[in-house]
Amino acid sequence: MGYKETLLSPIKIGNKECKNRFFAQPMECVDSDAEGNPTDLTYQRYENLYKGGFGLVDLEAITVTNESRARKTQLEIMPRNEKALANFIKKLKEVNPDTLIVFQLTHSGEISEPDFSRRVCVKPTYGLGGDILTEEEVDHIMDQFVLASKIAESVGADGIDMKLCHGYLGSQIIRPYNDRDWKYGGSWENRSRWAYDLMERIKKNVSKDFLIGSKMSMWEGYPGGFGSAGPDSPLMDMTEPIDLIKGLEERGASYFVESLGNVHAAMNYMECLKDGSELSYLHIYFADLMKKALKPETVVIGSHFSPFRGKKNKLLSIDPEKSGIFPMGARCIEDGMMDMIGLGRQSFADPFTPAKLAEGREDEIHYCTMCMNCEELMIRQQPVGCVTYNKPYTQRFVECRKQFGKVNELHT
Ligand SMILES: Cc1cc2nc3c(=O)[nH]c(=O)nc-3n(C[C@H](O)[C@H](O)[C@H](O)COP(=O)(O)O)c2cc1C
Repeated sequence: MGYKETLLSPIKIGNKECKNRFFAQPMECVDSDAEGNPTDLTYQRYENLYKGGFGLVDLEAITVTNESRARKTQLEIMPRNEKALANFIKKLKEVNPDTLIVFQLTHSGEISEPDFSRRVCVKPTYGLGGDILTEEEVDHIMDQFVLASKIAESVGADGIDMKLCHGYLGSQIIRPYNDRDWKYGGSWENRSRWAYDLMERIKKNVSKDFLIGSKMSMWEGYPGGFGSAGPDSPLMDMTEPIDLIKGLEERGASYFVESLGNVHAAMNYMECLKDGSELSYLHIYFADLMKKALKPETVVIGSHFSPFRGKKNKLLSIDPEKSGIFPMGARCIEDGMMDMIGLGRQSFADPFTPAKLAEGREDEIHYCTMCMNCEELMIRQQPVGCVTYNKPYTQRFVECRKQFGKVNELHT
């Protein structure tokens, strides 16, 4: 089978049919209105992904609370947002009824921006800190996630992604560094309680076909982060991550999105800079690890495919005909390392990537240049889009640099 056939073949996720193997990664774009509702700008982005033929779209990190959040104009999912979200999904489904959409539910915890919200943590991390959360507060946050799942279903989403990646609250609770002796910390039993109880509660509150899955950093990539051997250990240890995905699968998860890294401490692992393209291979390894640990029907989605680009990438020693996103992605699927491929920065560079492949217009695809200017816009709390190929964002970036100067480190 050629790569086109593989990538355009359908796959079942839970009881739903996904029309191809293209997954649009959740990409925060800081363009909601003051109440956290999608704006025209938000709609345009998703309309393009729907027209572009992605099989599954993960709506960017949408916060279950307004109190603690990472972006000033971040999408929010609370009762006051229900009407706007319902309208948003209705319009998208009219554009393309085949594309599935899940909402990535999040709470930013220690990554919350203290300039406009409350930074909270489960145990202060060097360089971050925040008010220490009580058990009652975490119980309340769990209630907010459950409510958000019910809202997601009522507004027409196909499922949710329980965010356990990149150092946001979900990661903060499950990581070994959370060795505080409390209901949600210390032993693995206590740390995993957050994810397991939440999954069970969501499951009880939604219909049986509603998809529940999770994007997770299998290894956060710094001492004490998730996937390390102890609260301050620099050693990688996959015992807990593997246990977690199996436990979530038993409780009803039908898909997982592989990821690595932490937005504060190890960003290159989650989205490498221009010179780190070979880190994509690490992601393939972890996706494969997940795939082998789970039941065959549980869908595993691989991440970090943007660096493969078209035939012109920074990957040496392999035939360019084999190293582009399409041949590499198809190979990973055909060899059983994963079921779908996630496109993040590439979905900014060209939201029509799947449609262009399907229509034999591969030579018209714009490939991500890995400039990371999209990330810089996000750090500056500006609406985010592709600075290279999308003129209004190029203009915004130029103004942003004039006003704030260059970001020294691509950390949030
Ligand atoms: C501007 C920007 C926003 C992002 N927002 C999110 C997000 O909301 N949730 C998430 O899980 N990952 C987020 N990511 C990470 C991507 O989803 C993806 O995992 C990463 O970029 C690697 O994939 P890629 O090589 O295809 O870009 C973001 C990345 C960028 C550059």
